[in-house]
Amino acid sequence: MSPELTDEQLEKHREAGEILAEVREAAADRVEVGASHLEVAEFAENRIRELGAEPAFPVNISIDEEAAHATPTPDDEATFGEEMINLDIGVHVDGWLADTAVTVDLSGHADLAEAPGEALEAAIEVVEPGVETGEIGAEIESVIDGYGYNPVVNLTGHGLGHWEQHTEPNVPNRAVEQGIELEVGDVVAIEPFATDGGGKVTEGAHEEIYSLEREASVRDRGARQALEQIVEEFKTLPFARRWLETSRAEMALRRLEQKNVVHGYPVLQEDEGCLVSQREHTVIVTEDGCEVTTRAG
Ligand code: CO
Repeated sequence: MSPELTDEQLEKHREAGEILAEVREAAADRVEVGASHLEVAEFAENRIRELGAEPAFPVNISIDEEAAHATPTPDDEATFGEEMINLDIGVHVDGWLADTAVTVDLSGHADLAEAPGEALEAAIEVVEPGVETGEIGAEIESVIDGYGYNPVVNLTGHGLGHWEQHTEPNVPNRAVEQGIELEVGDVVAIEPFATDGGGKVTEGAHEEIYSLEREASVRDRGARQALEQIVEEFKTLPFARRWLETSRAEMALRRLEQKNVVHGYPVLQEDEGCLVSQREHTVIVTEDGCEVTTRAG
């Protein structure tokens, strides 16, 4: 499993994590009733760039039953209400990644918001060389279960590769029989989700986040412009429609999607009326445990 990263590459993971921890805290501070989704997302993405890195994917802002893959539209006017809000943010330094998430609860469900945080700490406790991902999942499940909620079982933590946001191994949010053993040097994002719903998210209709599937020549001018920017700037990392410079981004994306050049990520959600909370840290497995790269300093 272990990709055998050099010290310099690990240092870039750490740098990404340090920037990300600062941005997560600052972004979470801006989430309040009446604040704009688009302003919070752009604040975080711009702050990452000011600090000398790049967003690894669009800031995900998930509200209430939403769990992942929601990000503001280019002209989004939505504001926060008395809701449960998850911010999932990523940073990369030369393609080396850090991934983190936090729940800001404005809905009055403090215990649900807290459950994945405690689950994440329990999971981090057991990470060491030789631990199986199933044991990490068992810790997560048991803490969330203790709160009387369900873990979201069809979302998982994941390895972080070079320019790749989701690589092996998956880190389940429940006990599973067969896991993968972690090794020294593995870089893994652990992300427990808790819900008062059934614990399985499904795909909604809306897409705002995409990533490159394959390179191909396209005739349409807008689509070609978009593809040039994607290949040059985002490579294989996810991007938002609002990040595209072409004035006809929606049409361009539709064409690229039809040709399987890019694929969209539909918003993932629990049933309506349910709430989902989330916490996430990135860790590097060390000889005697792990180092959390996204811990606030
Ligand atoms: Co993640």
